[in-house]
Amino acid sequence: MKTMAAPLTFLGIESSCDDTAAAVVRHVPGAAAQILSSVVEGQVALHADFGGVVPEIAARAHAERLDHCVEAALAQTGLSLRDLDGIAVTAGPGLIGGVLSGVMLAKGLAAASGLPMVGVNHLAGHALTPRLMDAVGFPYLMLLVSGGHCQFLIAKGVDEFQRLGGTIDDAPGEAFDKTAKLLGLAQPGGPAVQAEAALGDTRRFAFPRPLLDRPGCDMSFSGLKTALLRARDALVAEKGGLTVQDRRDLCAGFQEAVADVLVEKSRRALEVYLALSPAVAVLAVAGGVAANVVIRAKLMALCDRTGVRFLAPPLALCTDNAAMIAWAGMERFRTGARDDAALVARPRWPLDQTAAPMIGSGKKGAKA
Ligand code: KG4
Ligand code: ZN
Repeated sequence: MKTMAAPLTFLGIESSCDDTAAAVVRHVPGAAAQILSSVVEGQVALHADFGGVVPEIAARAHAERLDHCVEAALAQTGLSLRDLDGIAVTAGPGLIGGVLSGVMLAKGLAAASGLPMVGVNHLAGHALTPRLMDAVGFPYLMLLVSGGHCQFLIAKGVDEFQRLGGTIDDAPGEAFDKTAKLLGLAQPGGPAVQAEAALGDTRRFAFPRPLLDRPGCDMSFSGLKTALLRARDALVAEKGGLTVQDRRDLCAGFQEAVADVLVEKSRRALEVYLALSPAVAVLAVAGGVAANVVIRAKLMALCDRTGVRFLAPPLALCTDNAAMIAWAGMERFRTGARDDAALVARPRWPLDQTAAPMIGSGKKGAKA
């Protein structure tokens, strides 16, 4: 058996939401990890007509495409299963049909090859990504901000995460997507709203900054969407429609409000984190919304002011992918973790088991 400090090459498998993905990652201790291949097949087109991810469609697409993704990920590296040291698979949280497809495939591959298998929490995959690219040491502060998630975590160890707070209703990505829909812009809404906002006036509409009046790191974004709807309807009632500039100003006001909430809550999360006196203080972001240029710039400025290193992985590693699963699996493997045929697929699986359960964090369901 491999020693804990040996070089490792792992296959990662991800199928918990609407991306089918496989990747091969190698790590030689003391050197940066190498992503040898990373294949992601999105399902956006399959769900486009339904205004959200349809679990049955997602499950069928995962079942149909997983084999292909794994073959492609291996083929790109020129390696075969016997050249690997293990298989990591997302075992939750997520849409159960998709998670099951991945877990069953991993079990089959492990049985056929004799390779060890490690089940990975999808959120841990996101949360450990800063270590994949930048070998960041524990503890670091993580802001996961995507279409289905929004939470602050202090990563203290491979299996140890402290949740400081998160959204109590919509995730910011959902709010961006709904805003785009209300204004007749393209999906996914984030990039479309950002583009309009760049030409708008952030001060014309006074949108609320929900929960800033309350202590702690919890957030709420659903009221913002309602405020935007009211502002839109008032303009329509007054003038019979929206001008190009109205749309830009609405987007600018909305984006500014989301950014302000994220920055103020990040400031509070940093206070809690910095009290741990980390040797090198790091705030890392992940998730599609972390691509937003205004949010990024404001978080970066906050980090500059507080002497904290700001880390935003390349976008391909911020959004769902299997390289992060391979990496998280290797990290768990090095701590001695192993799973077997008894590994179960879990629709719900909070990273911080000690934190109070969230009420409806992200209405798209278990999307992470
Ligand atoms: O992490 P992700 O790819 O998928 C999951 O949620 O799992 O995030 C997608 C979300 C979408 O809601 C999309 O609108 C949002 O990220 N997004 C953005 C931007 N780019 C993508 N939101 C704001 N600004 C952006 N530039
Ligand atoms: Zn995710």
